[in-house]
Amino acid sequence: MKNIVILISGAGSNMAAIVRAARQAQWAQRLNVRVAAVISNKTDAKGLAWAQDQGIATAALDHRSFASREDFDTALMAEIDRFAPNLLVLAGFMRILTPSFVAHYAGRLLNIHPSLLPAFPGLHTHQRAIDAGCQFAGATVHQVTSDLDHGPILAQAVVPVLPGDSAEDLAARVLTQEHLIYPRAVAAFFNSQFAQSAVEAGR
Ligand code: GAR
Repeated sequence: MKNIVILISGAGSNMAAIVRAARQAQWAQRLNVRVAAVISNKTDAKGLAWAQDQGIATAALDHRSFASREDFDTALMAEIDRFAPNLLVLAGFMRILTPSFVAHYAGRLLNIHPSLLPAFPGLHTHQRAIDAGCQFAGATVHQVTSDLDHGPILAQAVVPVLPGDSAEDLAARVLTQEHLIYPRAVAAFFNSQFAQSAVEAGR
């Protein structure tokens, strides 16, 4: 069985969308894939309790109890690797990762960012899109590289910015789309691996 580990910091609605998609589309039977664990840097992340209720292994590692970013990432890697991840999914994980963390998961690390990258990397994406007068906004699923909020784009969704939108209005509209594209991109990641191994087996 191939393992997905999901990192969250808050509500975990993208994580929940992936867990629901895995169940509804029978990833275990069809792709031999399961969500093995959900891990947070916040012990009180709402998504952790939800994942636990679903019978998924959870762990929390408070970044504030580590002396440095490197120490935290080293401990986090150890926790993640207990679940032997084939894919590590960042779903609202609000930490900047060290280069050694990114290198360790190279090729098996995905993120979702609430903007149409390469526009608006970083924080406050929705307000920045409104302030810039954008008529469209959206979300991007991308492979993670050591360059913050960059890396090969795997999926995007576009929504209109409507007159009078607050950042919250726009965030909610974008989030609905995130819940569609992220599970699809995760499934596509495993489908392409499956196709690749079939090609190799046929050689
Ligand atoms: C999502 O909008 C996600 O794109 C964003 O945080 C939210 C998490 O929501 N991620 C980032 O800003 C990463 N830089 P969720 O916890 O309900 O999935």
